[in-house]
Amino acid sequence: MKTDKQFWTTLPKPIIGLAPMDGYSDSAFRRVCKSVNPLIVTITEFTSADGLFHNAERVKKKLQFHTSETPVIAQIFGKNIETFVAATKLCEDMGFSGIDLNMGCPAKNVVQSEHGVALRKNHDLAFALVEAVAKNTSLPVSVKTRLGWCDSSDLIPFALGAQNAGADMICIHARTYTNPYNVPARFEAVYNMKQLLKIPVIGNGGITSIPDGLEKLGNLDGFLIGQATFGNPWVFAATPPQSFSEKIPLILNHARWLIEDKGETRGCYEIRKHLISYVKSLPNAKAFRSKLCHVASITEIETILTEISQQLTTAAQSA
Ligand SMILES: Cc1cc2nc3c(=O)[nH]c(=O)nc-3n(C[C@H](O)[C@H](O)[C@H](O)COP(=O)(O)O)c2cc1C
Repeated sequence: MKTDKQFWTTLPKPIIGLAPMDGYSDSAFRRVCKSVNPLIVTITEFTSADGLFHNAERVKKKLQFHTSETPVIAQIFGKNIETFVAATKLCEDMGFSGIDLNMGCPAKNVVQSEHGVALRKNHDLAFALVEAVAKNTSLPVSVKTRLGWCDSSDLIPFALGAQNAGADMICIHARTYTNPYNVPARFEAVYNMKQLLKIPVIGNGGITSIPDGLEKLGNLDGFLIGQATFGNPWVFAATPPQSFSEKIPLILNHARWLIEDKGETRGCYEIRKHLISYVKSLPNAKAFRSKLCHVASITEIETILTEISQQLTTAAQSA
């Protein structure tokens, strides 16, 4: 999909999207979420700019996407201007609709390498990266970051600096680096920041449904949903399916797409955690989990899902 720097500004509001999540928001899961709601925006798992620079063919595989996912934004992380610019060019050639710079990842190895959220300790480098990427691409450039390190005291100068450097959108995960994921997100500082910015601002953190997102939207331009999509891509649906059997076709597509993309062994291994999430709220989930965590083929997945559905129907009839 051809986009320009106005992409985020001209998208219908509120912008609703799937948060980038390493190990989850791969092409197959993005396709699943897009089939539930074609209007959402999706972002790839974070991908190393250095990796793209040095091992382009191998790392590009992680970034592959299907046309049905568009518009899809490539998220890259790193700290080196040269590799960021080269990675951006690769993403542009691959047909991505935008480039997102990860400045929020708290993973130990990422922070130790002074990537991700560590860039909040080095505003000058963060802005230099945004500027270099923005100047070297016609795609819209965004930044995803957190409230701050241990509080939100530098959020406004950081956001204004990113905007001045050429960012076309900023997304704030409304927790700090030192907040674990289960601490409630706090949006007040994000609303205050938005008042001072010209570019769109997207909020993220702890949003459990579209109504919940709309309630927390305030003056923001949109929101991303992350963990609440695990086992529940229907969080994006206007009318979610009522029964487990109605969910089966999409769950099977998820498995098929993962297997198509990553091969049967890897695909079956990776679908297991999703299958476990798909059944987590069902009665007798424990028994289902123990079967699903060993699946090795699409036929086996289909058989187990059908068995689950039949057991649920029988239990409902005898209740
Ligand atoms: C397993 C996992 C992987 C994540 N990977 C990324 C990532 O690659 N890039 C990124 O910007 N954020 C990543 N995040 C953060 C999410 O995008 C999001 O900001 C965070 O989960 C808060 O949203 P939520 O409360 O709706 O889950 C990840 C989060 C989780 C749970």
